[in-house]
Amino acid sequence: TRTIRLAVVAGDGIGPEVVAEGLKVLGAVLDGSDVQVEQTPFDLGAARWHRTGETLTDADLEAIADHDAILLGAIGDPSVPSGVLERGLLLKLRFALDHYVNLRPSTLYPGVPTPLARPGEIDFVVVREGTEGPYVGNGGAIRAGTPHEVANEVSVNTAYGVERVVRDAFARAQARPRKKLTLVHKHNVLVHAGHLWRRTVEAVAAEFPDVAVDYAHVDAATIYLVTDPARFDVIVTDNLFGDILTDLAAAITGGIGLAASGNINPDRTTPSMFEPVHGSAPDIAGQAKADPTATVLSVALLLEHLGLGDEARRISDAVAADIAGRDGTTRSTSQVGDALAARVRS
Ligand code: NAD
Ligand code: IPM
Ligand code: MN
Repeated sequence: TRTIRLAVVAGDGIGPEVVAEGLKVLGAVLDGSDVQVEQTPFDLGAARWHRTGETLTDADLEAIADHDAILLGAIGDPSVPSGVLERGLLLKLRFALDHYVNLRPSTLYPGVPTPLARPGEIDFVVVREGTEGPYVGNGGAIRAGTPHEVANEVSVNTAYGVERVVRDAFARAQARPRKKLTLVHKHNVLVHAGHLWRRTVEAVAAEFPDVAVDYAHVDAATIYLVTDPARFDVIVTDNLFGDILTDLAAAITGGIGLAASGNINPDRTTPSMFEPVHGSAPDIAGQAKADPTATVLSVALLLEHLGLGDEARRISDAVAADIAGRDGTTRSTSQVGDALAARVRS
């Protein structure tokens, strides 16, 4: 018997609602197998912050790090100043656990409503850098609140950080049938970081001669995602561009309720963390309206990462079948979870 030790951070808003369904489907897919899951719930997010003023203590971090993987719902709440939980909890986890590959696949499942007139075959993955860029918090404001305020956010890009994520993206491209990698940046304006990314891609490309390399400025990339998304296979990009592109990628492939992600440490020195791309959706929280599919697909990415590819495929097949069978009838969060759990069992 193999035991997966899973840290569970359900979080805020719809987080606990969708995580419950993710765990339901995880239980169903492993039922009767020799793999068992030992869950540790972590009380993190808005409620904990209101109660104690804490976001993520060293003790929390140490305890979470002592697991095989992490499943996260979402964090963030209108009652907490913007940035406190996002930076103090979510980004702190990604940075402390060195999740330098933020993997965000986009597939247009048959039967999914898309706003695109001619979607073509959409099947790409965004490799979003996860530990650098403007996210590091290397900024500050002076004369804040005055007419002379200066507010700076500095994008940090290191040769080490760019090279490791670019190499990971090339390896992923090489393992895919189309073997194509697109760097998305803005090196016509952000010349310092942009040229580092471009030179790094050029250098690493020499190690992957069978991977075709392409480039798009981020503004143009948003055009192509709408007019010709089939051109993309693997996109590698920085932390902020990747954040923005992957909400757009979700929108063209059936919506944010379907978009899964993994915050991965490819070196496996720390547990990787799997979470839907969406946030805590305070506008629909507590109404059983959230689509748990993104979380369920994040569980599939988690299983894949842990070497359980067959179980992961059973989940993505169940999702594909569920989506194909959607007829516009409104289902609650747990009804979708029940349907997916039933499909992975059969
Ligand atoms: P959001 O993703 O929470 O919501 C955007 C829109 O998508 C809303 O209309 C929402 O109702 C809808 N939506 C989101 N998930 C859905 C689902 N599963 N099913 C159906 N509809 C869904 O983004 P936001 O409104 O910009 O942010 C809300 C809060 O979440 C903020 O505090 C933000 O910082 C936080 N956030 C957290 C994460 C995370 O934990 N990883 C990610 C994004 C945003
Ligand atoms: C996401 C979110 C986060 C990000 C926020 C909440 C810090 O938008 O996971 O996409 O920007 O990475
Ligand atoms: Mn985002």
